Amino acid sequence: MGSKTYKPRQFDLSNLKGISDETLEMHFKLYEGYVKETNKLNEKIAEFVQDAKVDQDEFAEYSELTRRLGFEYNGMVLHEYYFDNLMTGGGIGDPNNQSTFRQAAQESFGSYDIWKADFVGIGKMRGVGWAICYENPSNGALSNHWITLHETGNVAGFNPVLVMDVWEHAFILDYKPADRPKYIEAFFSNIDWNEVERRLQKQKARPIAA
Ligand SMILES: [Fe+2]
Repeated sequence: MGSKTYKPRQFDLSNLKGISDETLEMHFKLYEGYVKETNKLNEKIAEFVQDAKVDQDEFAEYSELTRRLGFEYNGMVLHEYYFDNLMTGGGIGDPNNQSTFRQAAQESFGSYDIWKADFVGIGKMRGVGWAICYENPSNGALSNHWITLHETGNVAGFNPVLVMDVWEHAFILDYKPADRPKYIEAFFSNIDWNEVERRLQKQKARPIAA
């Protein structure tokens, strides 16, 4: 448990290509729900433990609330990464040839196109969840992962670099469920690569002369 109260962030995000403002407004509201639930869970758990013990008759409820923390916290945090890696007015599509992300993808996958085929492939996987490209902060390697719901599949200590929501609520007002590939295409046309590259820790740590 934790005692911090989280405040929902406001995102200056609109006018995307292929993802409507209506979708974004609905999505911001959903995100605020995760922040609210995270705070509520923390408060309730704090009540259980404030006498410095967990009573046996409270244990079932205490356990269930604690299990839900992973869902709500990740639901909150992943949406923040997602909105932050999109760009108002739309982006440039794939990163340019000088891009540090493109270089990192080449080093880890052989080419940017292979990295992208893997990331997009994960995004099309059947199920409810997220496609996330992580950086291993110890060696700078990128790897793509499927996250079921919000919490199953996150890699401890890895740094989320590019985060794509593929829950149907992310696109259902704009695309049919079977048209998830079109949403993924739209997602790519709106990526803020500068934000993605700011997240690369290895890049930050690398000495200028190296
Ligand atoms: Fe979402």
